[in-house]
Amino acid sequence: MSYNIKGADGKLGILIPGLGAVATTLIAGVESIKKGLSKPIGSLSQMGNIRLGKRTENRYPLIKDFVPLAQLDSIVFGGWDVYEDNVYEAAANAKVLEAALLEQVKPELEAIKPFKAVFDKNYVKNLDGTHIKQAETKWDLAEAIIRDIETFKLDNNLDRIVIVWCASTEKYFDSSEVHQTIEAFEEGLRNNDAGIAPSMIYAYAAIKSGIPFANGAPNLTIDIPALQQFAVLNNVPIAGKDFKTGQTLMKTIVAPGLQARSLGVKGWFSTNILGNRDGLVLDDPDNFKTKEVSKLGVLEQILNEDINPELYGDLYHKVRINYYPPHGDNKESWDNIDIFGWLGYQMQIKINFLCKDSILAAPIVLDLALFMDLANRAEMSGIQEWLSFYFKTPQTAEGLPPEHDIFKQLMKLQNTLRHLMGEDLITHLGLDYYQELVESL
Ligand SMILES: NC(=O)c1ccc[n+]([C@@H]2O[C@H](COP(=O)([O-])OP(=O)(O)OC[C@H]3O[C@@H](n4cnc5c(N)ncnc54)[C@H](O)[C@@H]3O)[C@@H](O)[C@H]2O)c1
Repeated sequence: MSYNIKGADGKLGILIPGLGAVATTLIAGVESIKKGLSKPIGSLSQMGNIRLGKRTENRYPLIKDFVPLAQLDSIVFGGWDVYEDNVYEAAANAKVLEAALLEQVKPELEAIKPFKAVFDKNYVKNLDGTHIKQAETKWDLAEAIIRDIETFKLDNNLDRIVIVWCASTEKYFDSSEVHQTIEAFEEGLRNNDAGIAPSMIYAYAAIKSGIPFANGAPNLTIDIPALQQFAVLNNVPIAGKDFKTGQTLMKTIVAPGLQARSLGVKGWFSTNILGNRDGLVLDDPDNFKTKEVSKLGVLEQILNEDINPELYGDLYHKVRINYYPPHGDNKESWDNIDIFGWLGYQMQIKINFLCKDSILAAPIVLDLALFMDLANRAEMSGIQEWLSFYFKTPQTAEGLPPEHDIFKQLMKLQNTLRHLMGEDLITHLGLDYYQELVESL
Protein backbone atom coordinates (compact mmCIF):
# COMPACT_ATOMS: atom_id res chain seq x y z
CA MET A 1 0.00 0.00 0.00
CA SER A 2 1.51 3.26 -1.10
CA TYR A 3 0.20 5.29 1.84
CA ASN A 4 1.28 2.90 4.52
CA ILE A 5 -2.26 2.30 5.73
CA LYS A 6 -2.49 0.07 8.77
CA GLY A 7 -4.72 -2.97 8.20
CA ALA A 8 -8.32 -3.06 9.37
CA ASP A 9 -7.60 -6.00 11.67
CA GLY A 10 -9.70 -6.80 14.72
CA LYS A 11 -12.93 -5.16 15.79
CA LEU A 12 -14.18 -1.63 15.11
CA GLY A 13 -16.44 0.07 17.65
CA ILE A 14 -18.88 2.70 16.39
CA LEU A 15 -20.01 4.89 19.27
CA ILE A 16 -22.95 7.18 18.66
CA PRO A 17 -24.15 10.06 20.82
CA GLY A 18 -27.92 10.01 20.13
CA LEU A 19 -29.51 6.58 19.68
CA GLY A 20 -32.59 7.97 17.92
CA ALA A 21 -34.14 7.39 14.50
CA VAL A 22 -30.97 7.64 12.39
CA ALA A 23 -28.70 5.65 14.72
CA THR A 24 -31.18 2.83 15.34
CA THR A 25 -31.96 2.56 11.61
CA LEU A 26 -28.23 2.19 10.99
CA ILE A 27 -27.67 -0.36 13.75
CA ALA A 28 -30.70 -2.51 12.93
CA GLY A 29 -29.71 -2.32 9.27
CA VAL A 30 -26.11 -3.44 9.82
CA GLU A 31 -27.21 -6.29 12.11
CA SER A 32 -29.71 -7.40 9.47
CA ILE A 33 -27.07 -7.17 6.71
CA LYS A 34 -24.64 -9.20 8.84
CA LYS A 35 -27.27 -11.96 8.94
CA GLY A 36 -27.69 -11.81 5.17
CA LEU A 37 -31.28 -10.56 5.47
CA SER A 38 -30.82 -7.14 3.83
CA LYS A 39 -28.48 -5.19 1.55
CA PRO A 40 -26.55 -1.97 2.34
CA ILE A 41 -28.24 0.06 -0.39
CA GLY A 42 -27.27 3.72 -0.46
CA SER A 43 -23.83 3.01 1.01
CA LEU A 44 -21.11 4.06 -1.42
CA SER A 45 -18.49 2.17 0.57
CA GLN A 46 -20.41 -1.12 0.32
CA MET A 47 -22.31 -0.96 -2.98
CA GLY A 48 -20.41 1.66 -5.01
CA ASN A 49 -17.76 0.98 -7.66
CA ILE A 50 -14.69 3.02 -8.47
CA ARG A 51 -13.08 3.26 -11.88
CA LEU A 52 -9.34 2.63 -11.93
CA GLY A 53 -6.99 3.45 -14.79
CA LYS A 54 -8.14 4.21 -18.32
CA ARG A 55 -11.68 3.49 -19.54
CA THR A 56 -10.19 0.92 -21.89
CA GLU A 57 -8.84 -1.10 -18.93
CA ASN A 58 -12.38 -1.82 -17.72
CA ARG A 59 -11.44 -1.93 -14.03
CA TYR A 60 -14.40 -1.04 -11.78
CA PRO A 61 -13.94 -2.77 -8.40
CA LEU A 62 -16.32 -2.23 -5.51
CA ILE A 63 -14.86 0.40 -3.19
CA LYS A 64 -14.90 -2.07 -0.28
CA ASP A 65 -12.72 -4.43 -2.33
CA PHE A 66 -10.33 -1.64 -3.35
CA VAL A 67 -9.53 0.06 -0.04
CA PRO A 68 -8.92 -1.74 3.26
CA LEU A 69 -12.12 -0.95 5.14
CA ALA A 70 -13.38 -2.63 8.30
CA GLN A 71 -15.74 -5.52 7.49
CA LEU A 72 -19.33 -5.15 8.66
CA ASP A 73 -18.93 -8.36 10.68
CA SER A 74 -16.24 -6.70 12.77
CA ILE A 75 -18.44 -3.75 13.86
CA VAL A 76 -19.74 -3.35 17.41
CA PHE A 77 -22.18 -0.53 18.22
CA GLY A 78 -22.67 1.52 21.36
CA GLY A 79 -23.74 5.02 22.31
CA TRP A 80 -25.25 7.56 24.64
CA ASP A 81 -28.78 8.91 24.97
CA VAL A 82 -30.87 11.04 27.31
CA TYR A 83 -33.47 8.22 27.33
CA GLU A 84 -32.55 4.82 28.71
CA ASP A 85 -34.35 2.74 26.07
CA ASN A 86 -32.21 0.01 24.55
CA VAL A 87 -31.73 0.13 20.77
CA TYR A 88 -34.63 -2.27 20.13
CA GLU A 89 -37.02 -0.05 22.11
CA ALA A 90 -35.65 3.14 20.56
CA ALA A 91 -35.96 1.68 17.04
CA ALA A 92 -39.54 0.59 17.75
CA ASN A 93 -40.36 4.13 19.01
CA ALA A 94 -38.74 5.74 15.97
CA LYS A 95 -41.10 3.72 13.72
CA VAL A 96 -38.78 3.84 10.73
CA LEU A 97 -38.29 0.10 10.26
CA GLU A 98 -40.98 -2.55 10.17
CA ALA A 99 -41.63 -4.64 13.28
CA ALA A 100 -40.82 -7.83 11.32
CA LEU A 101 -37.32 -6.62 10.50
CA LEU A 102 -36.69 -5.49 14.09
CA GLU A 103 -37.82 -8.91 15.42
CA GLN A 104 -35.13 -10.60 13.33
CA VAL A 105 -32.38 -8.66 15.09
CA LYS A 106 -34.08 -8.18 18.47
CA PRO A 107 -31.44 -9.86 20.69
CA GLU A 108 -28.60 -7.86 19.08
CA LEU A 109 -30.51 -4.58 19.47
CA GLU A 110 -31.71 -5.26 23.02
CA ALA A 111 -28.11 -5.84 24.07
CA ILE A 112 -27.14 -2.26 23.19
CA LYS A 113 -27.98 0.03 26.09
CA PRO A 114 -27.00 3.68 26.05
CA PHE A 115 -24.55 5.22 28.46
CA LYS A 116 -25.95 8.22 30.33
CA ALA A 117 -25.75 11.35 28.18
CA VAL A 118 -24.05 14.69 28.65
CA PHE A 119 -27.03 16.96 28.15
CA ASP A 120 -27.97 20.59 28.73
CA LYS A 121 -31.54 21.71 28.18
CA ASN A 122 -30.30 25.20 27.32
CA TYR A 123 -29.10 23.72 24.04
CA VAL A 124 -32.13 21.52 23.22
CA LYS A 125 -35.31 22.92 24.77
CA ASN A 126 -37.83 20.41 23.46
CA LEU A 127 -36.37 17.28 25.11
CA ASP A 128 -36.93 16.08 28.68
CA GLY A 129 -34.73 13.02 29.09
CA THR A 130 -33.56 11.85 32.51
CA HIS A 131 -30.74 9.44 31.60
CA ILE A 132 -28.17 12.16 32.13
CA LYS A 133 -24.74 12.38 33.75
CA GLN A 134 -24.44 14.62 36.78
CA ALA A 135 -21.08 16.20 37.60
CA GLU A 136 -19.74 19.38 39.09
CA THR A 137 -17.91 20.62 36.01
CA LYS A 138 -17.88 20.13 32.26
CA TRP A 139 -14.33 18.86 32.69
CA ASP A 140 -15.69 16.04 34.89
CA LEU A 141 -18.30 15.29 32.22
CA ALA A 142 -15.59 15.01 29.55
CA GLU A 143 -13.66 12.64 31.85
CA ALA A 144 -16.82 10.57 32.28
CA ILE A 145 -17.21 10.26 28.50
CA ILE A 146 -13.57 9.20 28.22
CA ARG A 147 -14.24 6.50 30.84
CA ASP A 148 -17.30 5.31 28.86
CA ILE A 149 -15.13 5.01 25.75
CA GLU A 150 -12.55 2.96 27.64
CA THR A 151 -15.22 0.71 29.19
CA PHE A 152 -16.80 0.12 25.78
CA LYS A 153 -13.41 -0.74 24.28
CA LEU A 154 -12.47 -3.18 27.04
CA ASP A 155 -15.89 -4.83 27.36
CA ASN A 156 -16.04 -5.53 23.63
CA ASN A 157 -12.38 -6.28 23.05
CA LEU A 158 -12.12 -3.59 20.37
CA ASP A 159 -9.10 -2.54 18.35
CA ARG A 160 -10.38 0.82 17.16
CA ILE A 161 -13.31 3.18 17.73
CA VAL A 162 -14.94 6.01 15.79
CA ILE A 163 -17.63 8.40 17.02
CA VAL A 164 -20.42 9.83 14.85
CA TRP A 165 -22.73 12.44 16.42
CA CYS A 166 -26.36 11.50 15.66
CA ALA A 167 -27.93 13.38 18.59
CA SER A 168 -30.44 16.21 18.39
CA THR A 169 -29.58 19.52 16.79
CA GLU A 170 -28.37 22.02 19.37
CA LYS A 171 -29.41 25.67 19.29
CA TYR A 172 -27.68 28.18 17.06
CA PHE A 173 -24.85 30.23 18.56
CA ASP A 174 -21.62 31.85 17.37
CA SER A 175 -18.16 30.90 18.54
CA SER A 176 -16.53 33.08 21.19
CA GLU A 177 -13.30 33.50 23.13
CA VAL A 178 -13.55 30.12 24.87
CA HIS A 179 -13.54 28.34 21.48
CA GLN A 180 -10.37 29.94 20.11
CA THR A 181 -7.59 27.89 21.70
CA ILE A 182 -7.41 24.53 23.42
CA GLU A 183 -6.09 26.24 26.56
CA ALA A 184 -9.14 28.55 26.72
CA PHE A 185 -11.42 25.59 25.98
CA GLU A 186 -9.95 23.44 28.75
CA GLU A 187 -10.19 26.39 31.14
CA GLY A 188 -13.83 26.76 30.06
CA LEU A 189 -14.47 23.07 30.81
CA ARG A 190 -13.15 23.59 34.33
CA ASN A 191 -15.16 26.82 34.83
CA ASN A 192 -18.39 25.48 33.34
CA ASP A 193 -18.33 28.09 30.59
CA ALA A 194 -21.87 28.41 29.20
CA GLY A 195 -20.46 28.55 25.64
CA ILE A 196 -19.36 24.90 25.72
CA ALA A 197 -22.18 22.78 24.30
CA PRO A 198 -22.63 19.06 25.15
CA SER A 199 -21.61 18.05 21.62
CA MET A 200 -18.28 19.84 22.15
CA ILE A 201 -17.69 17.84 25.33
CA TYR A 202 -18.16 14.54 23.43
CA ALA A 203 -15.88 15.80 20.63
CA TYR A 204 -13.20 16.88 23.09
CA ALA A 205 -13.34 13.49 24.81
CA ALA A 206 -13.09 11.68 21.46
CA ILE A 207 -10.10 13.69 20.25
CA LYS A 208 -8.34 13.35 23.60
CA SER A 209 -8.83 9.58 23.35
CA GLY A 210 -7.36 9.57 19.79
CA ILE A 211 -10.73 8.70 18.26
CA PRO A 212 -12.06 10.13 14.97
CA PHE A 213 -15.19 12.28 15.40
CA ALA A 214 -17.78 13.09 12.70
CA ASN A 215 -20.66 15.49 13.27
CA GLY A 216 -23.96 14.56 11.63
CA ALA A 217 -25.96 17.52 12.93
CA PRO A 218 -25.62 21.21 12.04
CA ASN A 219 -24.29 22.18 15.52
CA LEU A 220 -21.16 24.29 15.89
CA THR A 221 -19.38 21.40 17.73
CA ILE A 222 -16.01 20.94 15.96
CA ASP A 223 -16.19 24.08 13.81
CA ILE A 224 -14.04 25.89 16.34
CA PRO A 225 -10.29 26.53 16.24
CA ALA A 226 -9.74 24.96 19.67
CA LEU A 227 -10.98 21.51 18.66
CA GLN A 228 -9.58 21.69 15.13
CA GLN A 229 -6.10 22.42 16.50
CA PHE A 230 -6.56 19.76 19.17
CA ALA A 231 -7.40 17.20 16.44
CA VAL A 232 -4.22 17.99 14.50
CA LEU A 233 -2.19 17.92 17.70
CA ASN A 234 -3.55 14.48 18.60
CA ASN A 235 -3.34 13.18 15.02
CA VAL A 236 -7.10 12.57 14.88
CA PRO A 237 -9.38 12.97 11.84
CA ILE A 238 -12.54 15.06 12.24
CA ALA A 239 -15.36 15.79 9.76
CA GLY A 240 -18.67 17.63 9.62
CA LYS A 241 -21.30 18.70 9.41
CA ASP A 242 -24.98 17.84 9.00
CA PHE A 243 -25.70 14.71 6.96
CA LYS A 244 -26.65 15.54 3.37
CA THR A 245 -29.96 13.74 2.87
CA GLY A 246 -33.39 14.57 1.42
CA GLN A 247 -33.94 18.02 0.08
CA THR A 248 -30.34 19.21 0.23
CA LEU A 249 -29.19 16.06 -1.54
CA MET A 250 -31.64 16.88 -4.36
CA LYS A 251 -30.52 20.51 -4.38
CA THR A 252 -26.86 19.63 -4.80
CA ILE A 253 -27.77 17.21 -7.60
CA VAL A 254 -30.05 19.60 -9.53
CA ALA A 255 -28.30 22.96 -9.01
CA PRO A 256 -24.94 21.87 -10.54
CA GLY A 257 -26.85 20.68 -13.62
CA LEU A 258 -28.61 24.03 -14.10
CA GLN A 259 -25.37 25.87 -13.54
CA ALA A 260 -23.50 23.55 -15.92
CA ARG A 261 -25.96 24.49 -18.71
CA SER A 262 -25.69 28.25 -17.92
CA LEU A 263 -29.38 28.42 -17.02
CA GLY A 264 -30.38 31.26 -14.71
CA VAL A 265 -32.12 30.77 -11.37
CA LYS A 266 -34.33 33.50 -9.90
CA GLY A 267 -35.92 31.73 -6.98
CA TRP A 268 -35.73 28.52 -5.00
CA PHE A 269 -38.40 27.95 -2.39
CA SER A 270 -37.92 24.84 -0.26
CA THR A 271 -40.39 23.62 2.27
CA ASN A 272 -40.42 20.48 4.42
CA ILE A 273 -42.83 18.74 6.72
CA LEU A 274 -41.63 16.07 9.10
CA GLY A 275 -43.02 14.53 12.25
CA ASN A 276 -40.22 12.67 13.99
CA ARG A 277 -38.35 13.71 17.14
CA ASP A 278 -35.86 15.61 14.99
CA GLY A 279 -38.83 17.66 13.71
CA LEU A 280 -39.97 18.30 17.27
CA VAL A 281 -36.52 19.60 18.27
CA LEU A 282 -36.39 21.78 15.14
CA ASP A 283 -39.79 23.22 16.06
CA ASP A 284 -37.92 25.49 18.48
CA PRO A 285 -36.75 28.65 16.64
CA ASP A 286 -33.20 28.55 18.10
CA ASN A 287 -32.69 24.95 16.94
CA PHE A 288 -34.35 25.64 13.57
CA LYS A 289 -31.92 28.51 13.01
CA THR A 290 -28.98 26.07 13.21
CA LYS A 291 -30.58 23.89 10.51
CA GLU A 292 -31.65 26.85 8.37
CA VAL A 293 -28.14 28.26 8.18
CA SER A 294 -26.83 24.86 7.18
CA LYS A 295 -29.48 24.38 4.47
CA LEU A 296 -29.13 27.88 3.01
CA GLY A 297 -25.40 27.71 2.31
CA VAL A 298 -25.45 25.17 -0.52
CA LEU A 299 -27.02 27.21 -3.32
CA GLU A 300 -24.97 30.31 -2.67
CA GLN A 301 -21.80 28.38 -3.41
CA ILE A 302 -23.04 26.40 -6.42
CA LEU A 303 -24.98 29.30 -7.99
CA ASN A 304 -22.43 31.94 -7.11
CA GLU A 305 -23.71 35.45 -7.73
CA ASP A 306 -20.25 37.00 -7.43
CA ILE A 307 -18.94 34.82 -10.24
CA ASN A 308 -22.06 35.11 -12.41
CA PRO A 309 -24.34 38.03 -11.41
CA GLU A 310 -26.35 37.86 -14.65
CA LEU A 311 -27.58 34.33 -13.98
CA TYR A 312 -27.68 34.24 -10.19
CA GLY A 313 -27.55 37.88 -8.95
CA ASP A 314 -31.30 37.96 -8.15
CA LEU A 315 -31.61 34.49 -6.62
CA TYR A 316 -34.18 34.41 -3.80
CA HIS A 317 -33.68 31.33 -1.61
CA LYS A 318 -36.06 30.42 1.19
CA VAL A 319 -36.11 27.32 3.41
CA ARG A 320 -38.98 26.28 5.69
CA ILE A 321 -39.30 23.30 8.04
CA ASN A 322 -42.61 22.52 9.69
CA TYR A 323 -43.24 19.95 12.40
CA TYR A 324 -46.15 17.77 11.30
CA PRO A 325 -46.51 14.68 13.55
CA PRO A 326 -48.72 12.53 11.24
CA HIS A 327 -45.85 12.14 8.76
CA GLY A 328 -43.44 10.64 11.32
CA ASP A 329 -40.03 9.93 9.76
CA ASN A 330 -41.56 10.18 6.26
CA LYS A 331 -40.41 13.65 5.44
CA GLU A 332 -42.03 15.40 2.54
CA SER A 333 -40.28 18.25 0.80
CA TRP A 334 -41.38 20.53 -1.98
CA ASP A 335 -39.08 22.67 -4.05
CA ASN A 336 -40.30 25.30 -6.43
CA ILE A 337 -37.50 26.49 -8.68
CA ASP A 338 -37.94 29.50 -10.95
CA ILE A 339 -35.39 29.31 -13.72
CA PHE A 340 -34.80 31.24 -16.94
CA GLY A 341 -33.25 30.25 -20.25
CA TRP A 342 -32.51 31.52 -23.75
CA LEU A 343 -33.41 35.23 -24.10
CA GLY A 344 -34.57 35.29 -20.48
CA TYR A 345 -37.67 33.10 -20.98
CA GLN A 346 -38.96 31.78 -17.65
CA MET A 347 -39.60 28.15 -16.68
CA GLN A 348 -40.38 26.29 -13.48
CA ILE A 349 -39.27 23.03 -11.91
CA LYS A 350 -41.24 21.38 -9.06
CA ILE A 351 -39.73 18.63 -6.96
CA ASN A 352 -41.85 16.73 -4.47
CA PHE A 353 -39.60 14.29 -2.62
CA LEU A 354 -41.39 11.81 -0.36
CA CYS A 355 -38.37 10.50 1.45
CA LYS A 356 -37.57 8.57 4.55
CA ASP A 357 -35.03 10.67 6.36
CA SER A 358 -33.36 7.94 8.36
CA ILE A 359 -33.26 5.54 5.40
CA LEU A 360 -31.18 8.16 3.58
CA ALA A 361 -29.06 9.02 6.62
CA ALA A 362 -28.17 5.52 7.88
CA PRO A 363 -25.81 4.57 5.01
CA ILE A 364 -24.10 7.95 5.38
CA VAL A 365 -23.29 7.18 9.01
CA LEU A 366 -21.91 3.79 8.02
CA ASP A 367 -19.71 5.22 5.26
CA LEU A 368 -18.47 8.03 7.47
CA ALA A 369 -17.56 5.62 10.24
CA LEU A 370 -15.68 3.32 7.83
CA PHE A 371 -13.89 6.13 5.98
CA MET A 372 -12.97 7.97 9.20
CA ASP A 373 -11.48 4.72 10.48
CA LEU A 374 -9.56 4.39 7.19
CA ALA A 375 -8.34 8.00 7.50
CA ASN A 376 -7.14 7.28 11.02
CA ARG A 377 -5.23 4.20 9.89
CA ALA A 378 -3.71 6.27 7.06
CA GLU A 379 -2.63 8.87 9.64
CA MET A 380 -4.71 11.64 8.09
CA SER A 381 -5.47 14.14 10.82
CA GLY A 382 -7.62 17.25 11.23
CA ILE A 383 -10.44 18.18 8.85
CA GLN A 384 -11.26 15.48 6.26
CA GLU A 385 -12.57 17.65 3.46
CA TRP A 386 -12.64 14.67 1.07
CA LEU A 387 -15.73 13.50 2.99
CA SER A 388 -17.69 16.67 1.99
CA PHE A 389 -19.82 14.32 -0.14
CA TYR A 390 -21.77 13.36 2.98
CA PHE A 391 -22.42 16.79 4.47
CA LYS A 392 -24.73 19.77 4.00
CA THR A 393 -22.10 22.14 5.37
CA PRO A 394 -18.72 20.57 4.66
CA GLN A 395 -16.01 21.53 7.06
CA THR A 396 -13.00 23.16 5.45
CA ALA A 397 -9.79 24.81 6.52
CA GLU A 398 -10.18 28.43 7.67
CA GLY A 399 -10.73 30.75 4.69
CA LEU A 400 -11.44 27.96 2.18
CA PRO A 401 -14.98 27.95 0.73
CA PRO A 402 -16.67 24.54 0.90
CA GLU A 403 -17.52 22.64 -2.29
CA HIS A 404 -21.23 21.71 -2.41
CA ASP A 405 -21.55 20.26 -5.93
CA ILE A 406 -22.13 16.55 -5.27
CA PHE A 407 -20.32 15.48 -8.44
CA LYS A 408 -17.18 17.41 -7.56
CA GLN A 409 -17.43 16.05 -4.02
CA LEU A 410 -17.61 12.49 -5.38
CA MET A 411 -14.63 13.09 -7.64
CA LYS A 412 -12.65 14.38 -4.66
CA LEU A 413 -13.60 11.39 -2.54
CA GLN A 414 -12.74 8.87 -5.26
CA ASN A 415 -9.48 10.61 -6.16
CA THR A 416 -8.52 10.60 -2.49
CA LEU A 417 -9.05 6.84 -2.39
CA ARG A 418 -7.03 6.40 -5.62
CA HIS A 419 -4.28 8.60 -4.15
CA LEU A 420 -4.23 6.60 -0.91
CA MET A 421 -3.89 3.36 -2.86
CA GLY A 422 -1.24 4.62 -5.31
CA GLU A 423 -3.55 4.55 -8.37
CA ASP A 424 -3.54 7.27 -11.07
CA LEU A 425 -5.94 10.14 -10.41
CA ILE A 426 -8.71 10.43 -13.00
CA THR A 427 -9.15 13.78 -14.74
CA HIS A 428 -11.61 12.59 -17.43
CA LEU A 429 -9.40 14.23 -20.05
CA GLY A 430 -9.15 11.08 -22.16
CA LEU A 431 -7.13 12.67 -24.99
CA ASP A 432 -4.31 10.23 -24.35
CA TYR A 433 -6.46 7.23 -25.22
CA TYR A 434 -7.84 8.85 -28.32
CA GLN A 435 -4.25 9.13 -29.49
CA GLU A 436 -3.57 5.48 -28.58
CA LEU A 437 -6.80 4.32 -30.28
CA VAL A 438 -6.03 6.29 -33.43
CA GLU A 439 -2.51 4.86 -33.54
CA SER A 440 -3.77 1.29 -33.06
CA LEU A 441 -6.21 1.54 -36.02
N1 LIG B 1 -32.32 12.02 9.24
C1 LIG B 1 -31.70 12.84 8.43
O1 LIG B 1 -31.89 12.78 7.24
C2 LIG B 1 -30.75 13.85 8.98
C3 LIG B 1 -30.06 14.64 8.07
C4 LIG B 1 -29.15 15.57 8.55
C5 LIG B 1 -28.94 15.69 9.90
N2 LIG B 1 -29.65 14.92 10.76
C6 LIG B 1 -29.40 15.14 12.17
O2 LIG B 1 -29.11 13.91 12.79
C7 LIG B 1 -29.52 13.99 14.14
C8 LIG B 1 -30.34 12.74 14.46
O3 LIG B 1 -31.55 12.72 13.74
P1 LIG B 1 -32.69 11.72 14.20
O4 LIG B 1 -33.75 11.81 13.18
O5 LIG B 1 -32.09 10.42 14.55
O6 LIG B 1 -33.20 12.44 15.53
P2 LIG B 1 -33.83 11.76 16.82
O7 LIG B 1 -34.47 12.88 17.56
O8 LIG B 1 -34.65 10.57 16.47
O9 LIG B 1 -32.56 11.22 17.60
C9 LIG B 1 -31.71 12.05 18.32
C10 LIG B 1 -31.42 11.37 19.64
O10 LIG B 1 -30.43 12.13 20.31
C11 LIG B 1 -30.74 12.10 21.69
N3 LIG B 1 -29.99 13.19 22.32
C12 LIG B 1 -30.26 14.51 22.31
N4 LIG B 1 -29.28 15.19 22.94
C13 LIG B 1 -28.36 14.27 23.32
C14 LIG B 1 -27.11 14.37 23.99
N5 LIG B 1 -26.63 15.54 24.37
N6 LIG B 1 -26.42 13.22 24.19
C15 LIG B 1 -26.92 12.02 23.78
N7 LIG B 1 -28.09 11.87 23.18
C16 LIG B 1 -28.80 12.99 22.93
C17 LIG B 1 -32.25 12.19 21.74
O11 LIG B 1 -32.77 11.74 22.95
C18 LIG B 1 -32.63 11.31 20.56
O12 LIG B 1 -32.84 9.97 20.96
C19 LIG B 1 -30.31 15.29 14.29
O13 LIG B 1 -29.48 16.29 14.84
C20 LIG B 1 -30.63 15.64 12.88
O14 LIG B 1 -30.81 17.03 12.68
C21 LIG B 1 -30.54 13.99 10.34
